[in-house]
Amino acid sequence: MKTLVASILACASLLTFNAAEAKPIEIKFSHVVAENTPKGQMALKFKELAEAALPGQVEVKVYPNSQLYTDETVLQAMQLGDIEMAAPALSKFQAYTDQLQLFDLPFLFKDIDAVDRFQRGPQGQALLKSMESKMLVGLGFLHNGMKQLSANDPIRVPADISGKKFRIMTSDVLQAQFEAVQAIPLKKPFAEVFTLLQTKAIDGQESPWSNTYASKFFEVQKYVTETNHGILDYMVVTSSEFWYGLPDDVRAKLTVAMNEAIAYGNKVAIEQDAADRQHILDSGKTEIITLTDAERQQWVDAMKPVWNMFIDEIGADLVNAALKANNP
Ligand code: SIN
Repeated sequence: MKTLVASILACASLLTFNAAEAKPIEIKFSHVVAENTPKGQMALKFKELAEAALPGQVEVKVYPNSQLYTDETVLQAMQLGDIEMAAPALSKFQAYTDQLQLFDLPFLFKDIDAVDRFQRGPQGQALLKSMESKMLVGLGFLHNGMKQLSANDPIRVPADISGKKFRIMTSDVLQAQFEAVQAIPLKKPFAEVFTLLQTKAIDGQESPWSNTYASKFFEVQKYVTETNHGILDYMVVTSSEFWYGLPDDVRAKLTVAMNEAIAYGNKVAIEQDAADRQHILDSGKTEIITLTDAERQQWVDAMKPVWNMFIDEIGADLVNAALKANNP
């Protein structure tokens, strides 16, 4: 009898052990924008592809709209193992590497195609590994779009934003960019921008069309000036402890799923950039100001000196490689 009970207990504990082993690997993916944005769509596509490639083995939980973390807290949470994936804007990595500040230099890239060429090249790919000493691994770059300025007054030339408060991401380059045109930059989390604009605590902000549309900034801003003065792109990141701790076959399948999800997100980015500009125009709530060449040149002349302030930290080789990508 004793032997029978012992066997039953042994079987039960084996079953419990197997059940525990079979528990899927949970990947929490936190981001700060809406689901109908390039990043929102990419994260959902990654969930779909990863779970299809590894049925029952992984579960991807996507948390949009800063539901779980803001970009100001997510990377620290990742280092602590509380979250597995995120895709902050490249402007949000300043505390982890100087090199990514490259992407904030005003008027560096002429368009998203140039950004793409640079990111696919050797210097761009090396940046994915630039934070490994901080336990963060880049899994890929994702596009959003070129940034435009929004405000409640018509902005045509740098003198028009002198003394006005603009929300910026947590980037010293962006701070210097706005100070170069005598505006007042305020570093604030994305989740606060709508309310800050609505209550007129700030005068304006800079974003690509998709964020200005999806987060309804256009509803509380009378003008968007099409400056294309900078870019907003992302890096999908994970913690090296999590990533290299995965079984090789799981990591390989997740890599394939991520590459495909990013390609999909980039396609959405290109389509939404044009579509969301049109949605804003069609709303009739916001006037879109296009600049003459002479007006745009004033912005270039005023903002480009910012490069010299950061070139040593970023590295002249990276800046030159980025410039080369403008003229393939
Ligand atoms: C995002 O697109 O993830 C947010 C960017 C911002 O903070 O402006």
